[in-house]
Amino acid sequence: MKYEDGIGKIIISEDEIKKKIAETGEKISREYAGKPLLLVSILKGAFVFLADLVRTVDIPCEIGFMCAQSYYSGTTSSGSVEITLDLQQDISNYHVIIVEDIIDTGRTLHDVVQLLRLRSPKSLKVITLLDKPEKRAVDFNADLSLFTIPDLFVIGYGLDCGELYRNLPYIAEYNG
Ligand code: IMP
Ligand code: MG
Repeated sequence: MKYEDGIGKIIISEDEIKKKIAETGEKISREYAGKPLLLVSILKGAFVFLADLVRTVDIPCEIGFMCAQSYYSGTTSSGSVEITLDLQQDISNYHVIIVEDIIDTGRTLHDVVQLLRLRSPKSLKVITLLDKPEKRAVDFNADLSLFTIPDLFVIGYGLDCGELYRNLPYIAEYNG
């Protein structure tokens, strides 16, 4: 299939994303002022979201990366989560916010949160750009979801299909 043919209807525009992220950055800056803050992005999908979000945060903060893989190919969840890259920091002195691209079955974040809790951060919250509540397989919810979407496979703004389309500046439906 041609690359362009995979790009379906735009579900969330660049402007809508930008506006929500600005609000979120303000909120974080207010709530975490004076606290040691660590924003943890789950690679690869959340790298674009973190990069934009962090530039709307105007208090001191550090960033970290973890790589958790739950989708090995195609558009369905494999059912198991593998941590292939872990944080370098000791998080016990930080208020940690996990920054994720999308919550689908909830398995990835359920496992990541369980792992990070064992390391006793000062606090632990989860912010996700997108939430697909219809597909939840485990009981997990973010502290903040910027957009709730129906059960569609989406691409762009960090989200891929077969490693492509992460560079689209908006969120679109994937035309499979
Ligand atoms: P979960 O473990 O099922 O919640 O899946 C979370 C991960 O699956 C996300 O971090 C994404 O990498 C991937 N994922 C889930 N839904 C989509 C989608 O619609 N498009 C692209 N990736 C997705
Ligand atoms: Mg992801």
